[in-house]
Amino acid sequence: MNSFNIAVIPGDGTGPEMVNEGLKVLQGAAQKYNFKLNLKTFDYGGERYLQTGEVLPEGAIEELKQYEAIFLGAIGHPDVKPGILEKGILLNLRFELDQYINLRPVKLYPGIETPLKDKGPEDIDFVVIRENTEGLYTGSGGFLKKGTPDEVAIQESINTRKGVERCLRYAFQYCRERNKKKTLTLCGKTNVLTYAFDLWERTFHEVGKDYPDIKREYAHVDAICMWMVKNPEQFDVIVTDNMFGDIITDLGAMLQGGMGIAAGANINPEGTSMFEPIGGSAPKYTGKNMINPLASICAGGMMLKHLGEKEAANAIEKAVMTVCSKHIKSLSAGKMGYTTSELGDLVLNYL
Ligand code: IPM
Ligand code: MN
Repeated sequence: MNSFNIAVIPGDGTGPEMVNEGLKVLQGAAQKYNFKLNLKTFDYGGERYLQTGEVLPEGAIEELKQYEAIFLGAIGHPDVKPGILEKGILLNLRFELDQYINLRPVKLYPGIETPLKDKGPEDIDFVVIRENTEGLYTGSGGFLKKGTPDEVAIQESINTRKGVERCLRYAFQYCRERNKKKTLTLCGKTNVLTYAFDLWERTFHEVGKDYPDIKREYAHVDAICMWMVKNPEQFDVIVTDNMFGDIITDLGAMLQGGMGIAAGANINPEGTSMFEPIGGSAPKYTGKNMINPLASICAGGMMLKHLGEKEAANAIEKAVMTVCSKHIKSLSAGKMGYTTSELGDLVLNYL
């Protein structure tokens, strides 16, 4: 029997409630498809930080590297200044574990409403591959004369040939294996960011020569936003840098019905990957059994696929689709017609 060691970080706000339902379904899948999940929970998050002043304790990264995957809830606490937990925990894990791919599917399931008029599940089904360790996210830059009228703030976008190339290769390969429209769209801003996206574009076409079966397209990020709304059906796989990827995947989440169902994978193909709902910690819903757990359940499905348990992963997706088409009224917290735990039970039943 396959057995996997999984680190669980429930985190802040509604993170723990989400993770509970995700794990409920994962354990159900383990039983049915005959594999074992050995879970260990870590208390990293806002509460721990407020008590100890520590974001991640010493040795945490080395310890997490021993696990095959990390199952994450949410990071972000209303009593902690923005940036501390995000940088200290979430981004730190992505960077230190070198999870250089952030994979975010945008897929509208039957029965779920999209704000796009006249668009349905056949139109909204693409994947965004976001570079996850570079760009504007590295923290490079600083202040000069802070707090004075002459203050200067610099925030630099770091793009390395190596970092860009490995992300692009992954995207081409992913597009090939996905085997749908076989079209990879580079999302950039070559008309203004003439260094960063020059590197991206040159590398895109160079690497693309190794993938003659994949059609290459390029679009500026602002145009991508327009087309995601106007003609989402034209997209198959979109690859982009860290910042643009962050922004367009929130737009993508809305197209697929909302944050309640949007899941993402932070992948290091050679190391420890991390799976998470892409919405935040939703403090106002904390502890109310109101939040939609489907995003965490879908993140669990992505984790199983990554671990090689494809049958179980597909079964989870199918169960989620059935629940969407037969049961849920809306994906929004409090409007689903079910509580958080009832929805978890429902998915488990169909599984
Ligand atoms: C996301 C989040 C994070 C990001 C924040 C919380 C640092 O918005 O996962 O998309 O910007 O990457
Ligand atoms: Mn984001």
